[in-house]
Amino acid sequence: MTATAVVGLQWGDEAKGKIVDLLSQDADIVARFNGGDNAGHTVVNQYGTFKVRLMPNGFSSPKTICAIGPGVVINPETLLNEVNFIQQKGIQIQERLWVSPRCNLVMPYHPILESIYEKAKGRSQTGTTGRGIGPVFADKVSYNGISLFDLADETNFAEKLRVQLSIKNTIFEAFGLPPLDFDHVFSQKLEQYSQMRLFIREPFGMLQETLSRQGKILLEGAQGALLDNNWGTYPFCTASVTLSGGAAAGLGIAPRWLTRVIGVVKAYTTRVGGGPMPTELNDDVGKKIQTAGQEFGTVTGRPRRCGWFDAELVHFTSQLNGASELALTKLDVLDGMPAIKICLGYHHPSSGESLRHYWEGDARWLEECKPVYMEMEGWMEPTHTIRSFAGLPLKAQAYVGKIEELVGVPVKFVSVAPEREATIQVA
Ligand code: GDP
Ligand code: IMO
Ligand code: MG
Repeated sequence: MTATAVVGLQWGDEAKGKIVDLLSQDADIVARFNGGDNAGHTVVNQYGTFKVRLMPNGFSSPKTICAIGPGVVINPETLLNEVNFIQQKGIQIQERLWVSPRCNLVMPYHPILESIYEKAKGRSQTGTTGRGIGPVFADKVSYNGISLFDLADETNFAEKLRVQLSIKNTIFEAFGLPPLDFDHVFSQKLEQYSQMRLFIREPFGMLQETLSRQGKILLEGAQGALLDNNWGTYPFCTASVTLSGGAAAGLGIAPRWLTRVIGVVKAYTTRVGGGPMPTELNDDVGKKIQTAGQEFGTVTGRPRRCGWFDAELVHFTSQLNGASELALTKLDVLDGMPAIKICLGYHHPSSGESLRHYWEGDARWLEECKPVYMEMEGWMEPTHTIRSFAGLPLKAQAYVGKIEELVGVPVKFVSVAPEREATIQVA
C-alpha cells in the first residue's frame, strides 16, 4: 500500500476527519495538502472530541507522523493552539509534526482584505469562513506571499513585510480602516515562529523514503470537490485545489503513487455559505436533517444548508477525483424519514425535459436548474448501534446500494455515528 487520498466529494464537512482518524491507526504518515484553517475536521476517539483546522488527523495514533505540505497556508496562532491543546490531552505531537517551510502564512491583513471584498459584494458575497484564505492564496500566486522560510531570516522578513504593509495599509486607509503597525506584526510573527521552530522542517524527503519502502501514507483533503477553485461553484468556492490531484502538487508526491482514493460523502447534502445547491430543502424536512445531523459549521458555527443526496454531483466529483471507493457518512441522520429522495440530474428552463449535468454550466446556470428526483422508502429504525452491513435495515441497505449504482463507485465504509468505532466496513 502506498498513498491513499481521503477527499470530500460534496461541499465540505463530509466527515473526512473521522475517516482519516479511523484509517490513521496503521498509517506511517498522515499529510495535509491543501486549504488552511478554513477547514474544521472533527474526530471522536478514545482521547475525546477534537475539532482541528490544521493538524493532520494522525495525531491520535502514537507512531504516525503528521505532515503539512506547501499546498497548505498556515495561520501560526491556530497551529500553535492546536499543538498545545493536543499536548494537554496527553498526546505527544511536536516530535511527530513536520510543517513545510514553504507554507505561506496567513498574515493579519488577509482576513481584513477578505472582509473588504465580502462587504463590497453584498448579497452576492461568497460567505467565506473569514480566515483570510482567498487573499493569502491570491498573494501566494501573485508572488506577494510570506512563507515560513521568510521568517527564518529577520532582514528578509522585514523587507517583505514592509512592502506588503505599504500596499495593504494604503488599501485600508482608502476604506477608512486603521493601518497595521509594522513593529507589532513583525515581533508577533517572529515570536510565533520561535515557538514553531521545532516542527518546521520539509517533509518531502521523509515522504519519498516512505513511498519507496511501500509505507502507508494517508493524504487528508480539506474542503470538498464542489469548493475546488477550478471545478467548484466558482466564485462560491475556496482558493485551493481540493481534489486528489491537488495532493500531488501540494505535497510533492507524484500521481503514480496514488493507489487508492476514498471519496467521503454524506448520505444527504450540506453546504455553508453562498452559492447554488440544487437539492436544498427550505422546509421542515431540511430542518429535520439539520437538527438530526447537528449541521452547524465547525469553524464559524453557521447553520449548514441541508438537502437530499445529489447523485449527479457525486457521480461527477467521483470522476474528478478518480474515487476508487466511497465512505458514506451520517446515514443515521436519515433514520425515521418515511421517504427519501435522490437527485438524478437537472432540468434547465432552456432545454425542456432533457437531463443536464453539473459541468455544463456555471454557478448562475446551476441556480436555475431544477433537480429531478427518484424516491425510495425510508427505514423507520435507529442505525447508530449497528456495526455490520447485514445488520442494517433492508431499506437502508437498498439506499446504500442505489447510491453505489448511481455514482458507479463501491461503498466501502458506512458511518452511523460520530465515534470512530461507529463505522461499518463493507466487505
Ligand atoms: P470534515 O470537515 O469533513 O472532517 O467534517 P466535520 O467534522 O466538519 O463535520 C462532520 C460532523 O459530523 C462532525 O460533527 C462529526 O462528529 C459528525 N459525524 C461524523 N460521522 C457521523 C455519523 O456517521 N453520524 C453522525 N450523526 N454524525 C457524524
Ligand atoms: P472542511 O475541510 C465546508 C466554504 C465556506 C465558503 C467557501 C469559501 O471542514 O470540509 P473560504 O474561507 O475557504 O474562503 O470560504 O468555502 N468552506 C467550507 N465549507 N467545509 C470546509 O472545510 C470549508 N472550507 C471552506 O463556507 O462557502
Ligand atoms: Mg469541516
